[in-house]
Amino acid sequence: MGVALADPTQIHQVLMNLCTNAAHAMDDKGILEVELSHVDLSKSDLTDQSIVDLKPGPYLKLCVSDTGSGMDKATLERIFDPYFTTKEVGKGSGLGLAVVHGIIKRHDGAATVRSEPGKGSTFCIYIPAVEANTGVVVETGQAPPTGTERILLIDDEQMVLESETAILERLGYTVTPETNSLRAIEIFRFRPNEFDLIITDYTMPKLTGTDLFQEIRQIRPDIPVILCTGFSEKITAAVAVDLGVELVMKPFSMKQLAELIRKVLRAQEP
Ligand SMILES: Nc1ncnc2c1ncn2[C@@H]1O[C@H](COP(=O)(O)OP(=O)(O)OP(=O)(O)O)[C@@H](O)[C@H]1O
Ligand SMILES: [Mg+2]
Repeated sequence: MGVALADPTQIHQVLMNLCTNAAHAMDDKGILEVELSHVDLSKSDLTDQSIVDLKPGPYLKLCVSDTGSGMDKATLERIFDPYFTTKEVGKGSGLGLAVVHGIIKRHDGAATVRSEPGKGSTFCIYIPAVEANTGVVVETGQAPPTGTERILLIDDEQMVLESETAILERLGYTVTPETNSLRAIEIFRFRPNEFDLIITDYTMPKLTGTDLFQEIRQIRPDIPVILCTGFSEKITAAVAVDLGVELVMKPFSMKQLAELIRKVLRAQEP
């Protein structure tokens, strides 16, 4: 299919704006089509007024079509203008397509529109593709590793706990979140074999990470533990090695955590 160098958040925005417009144009029934293809544009293809400025070469082409109201010529001429809208006051700001246009320009791309009143519209955007054989190293970013193990997650900050739970669940894990370290110990004491890994914050009001860790080891010596620490905390890598825990410094990325979890669990394998 090919790869483009683009900001995923911005491309997401482009797609959202085009699809929202398409949905609005169709009221309650119609067909919305989204198509991604790889095209090689030669000089002779670049005749359409809106893409004449593109350089010939490979592009990713993303099209959004609808079978909605379509647009007349007068409307078509102005759709990319900031604040141009045909929607009622309060319904549309007229910025959607202006934003799309800005994003595409920043990616050295272009957009075309075809529309027929009463029939529908097709918006296509072109973003330059990067060919693997041009010598450019394409860093597509490896997805973080996933897993299905059961994790007891302890952090006294509710917000942190919730976001970490969401991240771990998205990676596939079954998570038991707990804000109170004493209660966490009780949960673990009650069913020690129902967890594959414990991830805990180091600094907590009732029981610090190291004390908590000692308790955990008494209950089940072989359970792997990851300690999350801030920069100012006194636990060092050497202490962690002594304790036999893995350390992760806050703030950490989802990918860092995902990789560390796999490393720790791999070490457990017989
Ligand atoms: N798929 C479409 N079908 C019909 N008309 C469209 C379509 N997409 C855009 N338009 C027209 O272009 C105008 C400008 O679109 P744009 O997305 O910039 O603003 P908006 O949708 O009116 O408001 P906003 O996106 O800021 O909420 C719309 O008001 C509409 O008249
Ligand atoms: Mg819009």
